[in-house]
Amino acid sequence: MVILITGISKGLGSGIASYYLEKGHTVYGISRSRNEDLEKYRNFHFLSLDLSDFNAIEKNLSGFIREPGHYDLVILNAGILTEIKDLKDCSLEEIKKVMDINVWANKLVIDLLFSNIGHILQIVAISSGASVYGNRGWNAYSVSKAALNMLIKLYARENEDTHFSSMAPGLIDSGMQEYIFSLPDDPRFSSIRKLKETRESGQMPTPAEAAQILALSIEKARNEESGSFLDVREMG
Ligand SMILES: NC(=O)c1ccc[n+]([C@@H]2O[C@H](COP(=O)([O-])OP(=O)(O)OC[C@H]3O[C@@H](n4cnc5c(N)ncnc54)[C@H](OP(=O)(O)O)[C@@H]3O)[C@@H](O)[C@H]2O)c1
Repeated sequence: MVILITGISKGLGSGIASYYLEKGHTVYGISRSRNEDLEKYRNFHFLSLDLSDFNAIEKNLSGFIREPGHYDLVILNAGILTEIKDLKDCSLEEIKKVMDINVWANKLVIDLLFSNIGHILQIVAISSGASVYGNRGWNAYSVSKAALNMLIKLYARENEDTHFSSMAPGLIDSGMQEYIFSLPDDPRFSSIRKLKETRESGQMPTPAEAAQILALSIEKARNEESGSFLDVREMG
């Protein structure tokens, strides 16, 4: 397969890129920083790009993505978490920052893919349970992932030859969880304690373990209606 993955420098993106590279697939990866572990693979191609810089996306992405001519799979994984706090305490600047990366950069990438590439079999946007739970404190992150789910549903309606899904990957012991783990317990935000307990009990998969679960779910997703929101924890 030829696969495009955003956010490959660490966390889930690094895990899923290694998973496919190890199986001999060709991976085109994007993030701001390099990932030396992936650069040992001859079937890995890298573009350093800041997805919050829309001018840079317009200027630099087309040449890179055009190279293989088709994609079997695109995984829109890059994302950022906001500080855990109430929505009323979030400035519009903070909200805009997370929406730019978690939603609008993905719109630009999808638009450039369809204007440059003839054939794209499957697009998976990495969403989150936070897109539907509405837990207190998850503010703009939850809003951004709910918007991402709808963005994907709408693109599915417009592009019937490509299979789309937004997918919650479950919990992953990545940099994002490091941040949650560093927070003091707060009775307003009960999910902090729950996430810490899950991590402490050893039930939070490493990025490599989460990547295996995700890859299986991506295969199964093709049997679901295009545009669906899917949660890997409910996919058997
Ligand atoms: N961790 C969890 O428990 C969890 C649960 C549900 C959903 N998710 C979702 O899973 C995805 C991966 O999360 P993760 O936990 O692996 O996070 P992570 O370890 O923080 O990795 C995030 C990746 O996104 C890239 N990225 C961030 N901002 C970028 C930018 N401006 N331009 C280009 N790339 C950028 C980062 O690369 P650079 O910094 O090098 O640019 C990095 O490779 C995210 O969409 C997240 O919302 C995670």
